[in-house]
Amino acid sequence: MPRLLLTGANGFVGKILTGRLQNAGYEVIALGGNVSPAQGIADQYLSCDIRDAGALSKAVADAQPTHVIHLAAISHVPTSFKEPLLTWQTNVMGSMNLLEAVRLQAPDAFTLFPSSSEVYGAAFKSGIAVTEDTLPEPLNPYAASKVAAEYAFREYFRQGLNGVIARPFNHIGAQQSADFVTASFARQIALIEAGQQAPVLKVGNLEAVRDFLDVQDVCDAYIELLKLADDKGHPLCLNIASGQSRRIRDVLDLLLLQSNVPISVELDPDRLRPSDIPIAVGNNTLLKQTTGWQPAIALETTLSQLLDYWRAQTNTTP
Ligand code: GDD
Repeated sequence: MPRLLLTGANGFVGKILTGRLQNAGYEVIALGGNVSPAQGIADQYLSCDIRDAGALSKAVADAQPTHVIHLAAISHVPTSFKEPLLTWQTNVMGSMNLLEAVRLQAPDAFTLFPSSSEVYGAAFKSGIAVTEDTLPEPLNPYAASKVAAEYAFREYFRQGLNGVIARPFNHIGAQQSADFVTASFARQIALIEAGQQAPVLKVGNLEAVRDFLDVQDVCDAYIELLKLADDKGHPLCLNIASGQSRRIRDVLDLLLLQSNVPISVELDPDRLRPSDIPIAVGNNTLLKQTTGWQPAIALETTLSQLLDYWRAQTNTTP
């Protein structure tokens, strides 16, 4: 049975991906911090901070993986502005620590690195869905750190390590932190419905345009990408995108349509960013052609499940 080491296993994507990997026939060795929601789900749980090179090397040696997915990262753009050092140490040096550990302890493992569509940054300005050939022009510390980490992976791939880089666009769903836009809006609607928040929904930049995917579709794309392990000529970097652009204002309207209570919308200046990508939409042709993947879940379905999730959370939280 293939043994997959998953860093960032306790995160939003990690928890969902663990179950889907197991269904796809992988034994999952989850790597995360001390608090461990993944502990009960994964086949094995290892506690380790990826900034600790020695501990990570030991974890990889113990796990002896055939496959690795490196999810662990600081992934919230505003946090990356507030904590650039933590962002670079985690996203770049954490990736370097993992690459060295794999090179020395599990050199035959196939490694998938989920980077981010954020790397394109200013290159999105044309408004046309970007392909993987578009040169990255990052606009925030998170995106810059992901570009740097991508180059680290490319260098190890050039030296013979087997793996692939993915650039997922915005993926959303139940259990995502309310730091992110759709979860924030759904949570506020649920709180308002429950009478726990005044009927005023706080928002940031509603004019931004994003390419949204259900987190389950992104997890399925990761599982398809793992199958490239035996394909010598596979592309090194692939977008995971829906190919559809959605204005944040329209996404908010879709959520508000699902509620019967009157809600007004108010700009919260604290939710605006020093720089925000105005439009982000991706071309997914390469991924479709290479793996046969395509997104299966409509945004409306994801948003309705998201709101139900936050309604349930609100009812169980005093
Ligand atoms: N978080 C948040 N909260 N964003 C808001 C809000 C709000 O109240 N109101 C408007 N926005 C706008 C942001 O300014 C941004 O333009 C857009 O909604 C999406 O914000 P996020 O959900 O925070 O995601 P992101 O686009 O910055 O980054 C996400 O997607 C990337 C992939 O493209 C993150 O998940 C990254 O980790 C990921 O790599």
